[in-house]
Amino acid sequence: MNKIPDSNIKTEILIHDLKVPISVINAGARSLLERQDVYGPLTEKQLKVLNRIVRNTLATQRLVNDVLELGRSREGVMICSQFTVASLVVGVLVEVFDLADPNVADRVRKVTTCAELQEVIADAGVTLDFQKATWEASVCLDAAKVRQILRNLVTNAFKHRTARVDIRGSIENRRLTLWVKDDGRGIPRVDHQRIFETYFTTGGSIEDAIQSHGLGLAGVMVLLRDMGGDMALESDAGHGAEFKVSIPLD
Ligand SMILES: Nc1ncnc2c1ncn2[C@@H]1O[C@H](COP(=O)(O)OP(=O)(O)OP(=O)(O)O)[C@@H](O)[C@H]1O
Ligand SMILES: [Mg+2]
Repeated sequence: MNKIPDSNIKTEILIHDLKVPISVINAGARSLLERQDVYGPLTEKQLKVLNRIVRNTLATQRLVNDVLELGRSREGVMICSQFTVASLVVGVLVEVFDLADPNVADRVRKVTTCAELQEVIADAGVTLDFQKATWEASVCLDAAKVRQILRNLVTNAFKHRTARVDIRGSIENRRLTLWVKDDGRGIPRVDHQRIFETYFTTGGSIEDAIQSHGLGLAGVMVLLRDMGGDMALESDAGHGAEFKVSIPLD
């Protein structure tokens, strides 16, 4: 007889089953956008709404995948592949800008050099600081997990920044280290431990509660633990926040 799934698995199966309806919504909206010859012409306003639907289905797909990735991590499954630091950072920037500023996301998708990328994102207040050797380095890690970690940190930085987000990276002593820094309200020292706990948020309003679940950093901690990595926070109230994650490459 089959084992009865524990409640974690039941939730994961439910979340997994969201994949199909989300894909159907995404495919439907994209058909309307891309096959106007079949479905008829669209007005400017309709284009805008459909593009917003497509962007949000993509964001939902990412969230679903993130939750499933956490489950996979809990079971000790690592799917390592070779990818460049550049592809990791560009991928995360596209995902974050897709929601924050889709025009920038489209421009980031088209860049071919690091210099070009820096120019495009500078207008949006984002800087990159990577040595050429690090930027072009190919690492062997679980790409989905590393991407989820960096995306969470960059999303938080975007949410809390006043104007700037600085992303830095290096490879030293067989470790990939990434820093994400913003110039926002910062995090008071008393909260430095608690922000890594599940469901802890510092926002007080209803809007904050809808936007912030306090799950992002807790998830990042789980993924880092499973990869043998660690995270550190540098921040004082009123002086921005800098998160540093370090992941062993062996
Ligand atoms: N860069 C930052 N600047 C200031 N506060 C931050 C920053 N990053 C995280 N925090 C604080 O830590 C809390 C927990 O962050 P976490 O990413 O876990 O959750 P969240 O962003 O609120 O929601 P979500 O589950 O959608 O990620 C946030 O609510 C916020 O109060
Ligand atoms: Mg978050």
